[in-house]
Amino acid sequence: MNGYNSDGKAPNVSREELERQKVFINKIKDLNDEFEKENNRKKTMFISTFGCQMNAHDSEKIDGMLKQMGFVDADCEKNADFIIYNTCCVRENAENKVYGNLGYLKHAKASNPFMKIALCGCMMQENDVVETIRKKYRHVDIVFGTFNLYKLPELIFTNIETDGPVFDIWKEHGEIVEDLPSIRKYKFKSSVNIMFGCDNFCSYCIVPYVRGRERSRSSFDILNEIRALVKDGVREVTLLGQNVNSYGKNLDENINFAKLLRMVNNIDGIERIRFMTSHPKDLSDELISVMAECDRVCGHIHLPFQSGSDRILEKMNRKYTKEKYLELVSKIKEKIPNIAITTDIIVGFPGETANDVDETIDVIEKVKFNGAFTFIYSKRTGTPAAAMENQIPEDDVKKQFNRVINALNPVVYEKNKSHIGKVYKVLAEDVSGSDERFITGRLEDNSLVHFEADKGVIGNIAEVEIIDCKTFYLIGKSV
Ligand code: 5AD
Ligand code: SF4
Repeated sequence: MNGYNSDGKAPNVSREELERQKVFINKIKDLNDEFEKENNRKKTMFISTFGCQMNAHDSEKIDGMLKQMGFVDADCEKNADFIIYNTCCVRENAENKVYGNLGYLKHAKASNPFMKIALCGCMMQENDVVETIRKKYRHVDIVFGTFNLYKLPELIFTNIETDGPVFDIWKEHGEIVEDLPSIRKYKFKSSVNIMFGCDNFCSYCIVPYVRGRERSRSSFDILNEIRALVKDGVREVTLLGQNVNSYGKNLDENINFAKLLRMVNNIDGIERIRFMTSHPKDLSDELISVMAECDRVCGHIHLPFQSGSDRILEKMNRKYTKEKYLELVSKIKEKIPNIAITTDIIVGFPGETANDVDETIDVIEKVKFNGAFTFIYSKRTGTPAAAMENQIPEDDVKKQFNRVINALNPVVYEKNKSHIGKVYKVLAEDVSGSDERFITGRLEDNSLVHFEADKGVIGNIAEVEIIDCKTFYLIGKSV
């Protein structure tokens, strides 16, 4: 198997296919056990994940499969025997980072005869990327895309057997493969895919081309997965989809996202339910009602608006206007008064003027977001926006980008400040990266808080009083 699938199409895959992969998992496990006997150490692995929560969740599945094959975590990348990059292509800088790292890995590989390098994820769905890897990065052993993650065991085994590079990229999706083994980063919280792909074709975005058409998992499979997670100690789930608001459209069941959310809320033992991402164009009144009524659904919505200028929104193919977005936000705030709203913003879309950016800043000031991811527009080959006139040089974008950040930061800071003096339930997640005495956790509204506490609190819900804040986090103390 060295080349694209002959017809570029995905075969139908199913639970039986997963059984087939288990055979490869066991074969590789045997080989890894033999390796351990001969070398007095286990084979090690290192996963690098780029991009969104969807990729982070896929990496948990990769982790699950590799651990079943007998790999153990390496202390650092350059010492690993199996290195896999789960890539992102939404913006160019994520791609450049992968190429940069691959250059460095060439030297590391030269000093470890056992090292294998695999690449997967969104970047690998781009033809020119795969051609570049073939020609210029010949030290890469395995390449696959977003549609055949479950085949990793077979691809590793083929690579061992043929002792040559294995490329397996499908042009479209097959059936959804259920029950991949997965190792959660956190014992007490988990993401759950509810749908894959995107049909929205925002003109700047490459996701619809690399993640394929929208398809939803059945509610039966989703609910079963969540019940099993709860049994396994999970208190918080995040339902993942590129646009959760169109959940269920391709299913025979009579279901939509609001109904699914209500069903998840009824699962015994689940404590917090989050979801992302919501597209403003089809966020229903029913969803707002369900969010208001269901006590376990967290009071937070991530609602990207991208731009406040109607002219730019139209060129972006977002299918709403600034006014419609603001109306939607008012409706949400009215029904769910303490809701936290976060967003995504793009600055520097082709043809964007300072006046357009004024409109974006106006939305920031009117909505008073609790947080936002701000991006400089990145030209993605193959998208309609890449062919538009008036692409703006990055140096010119920086000034407008800074204007947006300067408008955003005080708004976010004020929101954080409004928490001071109040006590909240916080899901304690980790030891703080910057100070070991602090624990990092999240309020129900997804605000990040650092508070002084014992490590034993991790995984539990603590009562925390907010005593101070910075722009990007709160500071608290246990009560
Ligand atoms: N350039 C910059 N930002 C982008 N996003 C998607 N495509 C691009 C692009 N070409 C941003 C959008 C989206 C988020 C996930 O990434 O804001 O909501
Ligand atoms: Fe990209 Fe738009 Fe789909 Fe989001 S909704 S993944 S921005 S095309």
